[in-house]
Order: sequence, then C-alpha cells, then structure tokens
Amino acid sequence: MTDQRFLHNQWSSRLAFILAASGSAIGLGNIWKFPYLAGENGGGAFVAVYLLCVIAIGIPLMIAETMLGRRGRQNPINTMLTLTREAKASPAWHYAGWLGVLSGFLILSYYSVIAGWSMVYMFKMNSGFMNNVSAESASRIFGDLKSSPEIQFIWHTIFMTITMTIVSRGVSGGLERATRFMMPGLLVMLLLLDGYAMSSDGFGEGISFLFKPDFSRLSGESVLVALGQAFFSLGLGMGAIMIYGSYLPSHVSIPRSTTFVAFMDTLVALLAGVAIFPIVFANQLEPTMGPGLIFQTLPIAFGQMPGGSFFGLLFFVLLFLAAITSAIALIEPAVAWLSENRDMTREAASLWSGVTCWLLGLGTVFSFNVWSENTWFGKNFFEIVDFLTANFMLPLGGILVALFAGWIVMREVSEAELEMGAAYKYWQFAIRYISPLAVALVALSAIDVV
Ligand code: PHE
Repeated sequence: MTDQRFLHNQWSSRLAFILAASGSAIGLGNIWKFPYLAGENGGGAFVAVYLLCVIAIGIPLMIAETMLGRRGRQNPINTMLTLTREAKASPAWHYAGWLGVLSGFLILSYYSVIAGWSMVYMFKMNSGFMNNVSAESASRIFGDLKSSPEIQFIWHTIFMTITMTIVSRGVSGGLERATRFMMPGLLVMLLLLDGYAMSSDGFGEGISFLFKPDFSRLSGESVLVALGQAFFSLGLGMGAIMIYGSYLPSHVSIPRSTTFVAFMDTLVALLAGVAIFPIVFANQLEPTMGPGLIFQTLPIAFGQMPGGSFFGLLFFVLLFLAAITSAIALIEPAVAWLSENRDMTREAASLWSGVTCWLLGLGTVFSFNVWSENTWFGKNFFEIVDFLTANFMLPLGGILVALFAGWIVMREVSEAELEMGAAYKYWQFAIRYISPLAVALVALSAIDVV
C-alpha cells in the first residue's frame, strides 16, 4: 500500500526515510547526552570505544532492524510474529517486540523532562538573560531549574502534550518538512559554536580531552555505557527504526541509507563535543558535571558572541525540534501496536501512552529535587530508568534483533532485502557473531561493577 504511493516519487521516498530515520536518531542523545557521558567517562578512550561500537555493532544492527521492519511491514510486535511464522520459528521471539515497546515508554518518560529543560532555555536565551553570563551564574541558573519541581512539571507536561498531539494525527508531512530544515539548521548552529570554541583558550585542552584516548581511565562500566549510548543515539534495539523500515519502498538500498544516517548521527555528536569541552576547560569547569553539562556551558558561549541571544534561541528551538522527532519515534511502536491490535483509535492510543509516560516522567522531575535523596544502589530514579534502558534493555533488544536477523530469518530473504552483493557475507558475519558476542561480553565484564 505504502509502496504504491511511493512508486510515483521514488527520490522523495528515499529522502523521506532518511529524514524520518535521522529525525529519530538525532536528538538529545547527541547534544545533551553524548558530551556529558564522554565527560563522566574520561573523554578520549570513551569516544574511541563509542566509535568502535557504532561501526562494528551499530551499523550492522541498524541494517538488520530496518530490514526486519521492511519485511514485516507492521508494528514491531506483529512484525516479529509474522517473521517468526515465515521462518517457522518459535513465536516466543515476538517478546523482543514487547521489550522494545516498553523501552520506548521508559526512555520517553525522562526524555520529555530534559526536552522541557531545553524549552526553558529557549526563553532564557531570547530574553537576553544570558548576555555575558559567568560560569558561576550559568551554574546557578541551571541549579534553580533543577531544584524547581513546578517549572519542570509544567514543561514536561507541555512537551508530552505537543508530542502526543503530533503522534495522534499520524506522522505527518508537516513534520517531515520540519526535519528537512532542522537538520541542516542544527549542523550550522553546531559549526557556529565550534567556530567559537576554536577561538577560545580551552580549545587545545578540549580537543585532546575528547580525542586523545587514555585507556587507563576506562572502566568496564564505561565500556558498557559507550555501547548503550551507541544504541541510544542510533535509536536501535526498540523497534523505532523497524517501524520506519516498514514504510520503506523495496527498491531503496537499506545498507546505504542506514549508513548515511549513522554517519550524520555520529557527526552531530562529535561536533557537539567539540563545541562544549573547550568551554569547560576555558572556564575551569568540571567535565564530570553530568546531565547539566550543556546547560551550564553553552549559555556562556552564546552570552559572549555577537547576536548570541538570537543564536541561542535558534539553537534551543532546533534542539527542541530534534527532541520532538525522536520522541515520536520512541512512542510510535506503542501507539501503532495499540491502534492496530487493540482496536483503539490513534487518538485514544496516543492519549493512553502519553498519560502513562507523563506519569512515569514525574519520577524524573522529582529525582532532581524532592526525591534526590531517594537512591537505590547510589542512583536516583532518573539514573535508574536511564541505566536500565540504555545499558540493559536496548542492548538486550539489539542482541535479539541480531540473533533473529542472523540465524532465524532465511538467508534468501535477507539477501534479497539487502542486495549488498559481496558485502553480504561481512554483514552476516557481523550480525551472527560480532554483535551478539560483543554485547554479551561487554555486559558480562560490567556486571561486577554494576
Ligand atoms: N536517538 C534518540 C536521541 O539520540 C533517542 C531515541 C532512542 C530515539 C531510541 C528512538 C529510539 O536523542
């Protein structure tokens, strides 16, 4: 059905997939999360392991997950059911689809709170409030936001409402158009910040922190965090890319388009790192300051550049758009499943999933203030949800996708879907052996520190 529509306009269909998939991949993960994780995990060595995970595990898996989606052409749970039937395998495989739907829920619950932070910063930038802000004031301003459950509550609610309104209408053409200017816009803003970083005193130190690996600073847990971040940032292991793959016309090359998306995703994360660490070192800040890193560094840069309040506004608007397009991908598997299998309208499905996510998100809102003392194993609510999803559920989902695509789906099927020629056997080797073994090894080596 989708094919028919796309057949008339083949170029735009490939572009549509690339836009949707990069909309899902590029988000808070690249700009908010990657820099603070790199900062907390020692810099260069973490970045090196991250890049290795993207290339050796992420790209083959992205190809696999997209392929499963295109073959199954439904929501992740039904896709897994159809494909197991086709391969005459055990229907138990469809639980992988469930795992994905659940991961999306949990991630979106806190994602929305952080997106709320970036909405607050749109206004702070625009008001000129950040002009020539010092490092101390930037920290204080962010601290005030973190300690206010009320403000975070309001913006979390607004963000979830916007997301669910868009999702209930179906992933629309308007959104596609937004992505079309959002991505180049985000790149330009990051390049502007990189230009500023180059002229700052901390540039040399920032670059060597980010790109000079010191493997003695890398723990087993850091390796797991790098792997989890690769899954998170590429949007793998939870059925999001499977859904987008299901709208992909059969003539589009999956390996080529997914590799392009993975490349752009990684580029954006690295450009964000290059913008942020010079500011950290030029202002004697700590790279290990955690989730507040971008909010305490970027305002300093915008505050000093000419036209900074305008560029700052633009940056946070683009970040908000990038967050919206990722949020939609996070919740789409659940909404698609509810409306296709549970006989709900799309509106009802969006409402139910949205309200559940919103409720869970309150736990994250309170993690930074009233519940900050409530920790389990040294982690607050937000950190537990984040750790569980990025470092456990997504990699587990990924292993299942790899095993399923590599061992269960028939070779004729994957060969025909991928049309990779001689490169097929490398993909098959990666997906059959490298991805599952690497993920299992990393997880095992981290267990004693987890
Ligand atoms: N990749 C998104 C980001 O980096 C988050 C996401 C994760 C989206 C999983 C979809 C699926 O912000």
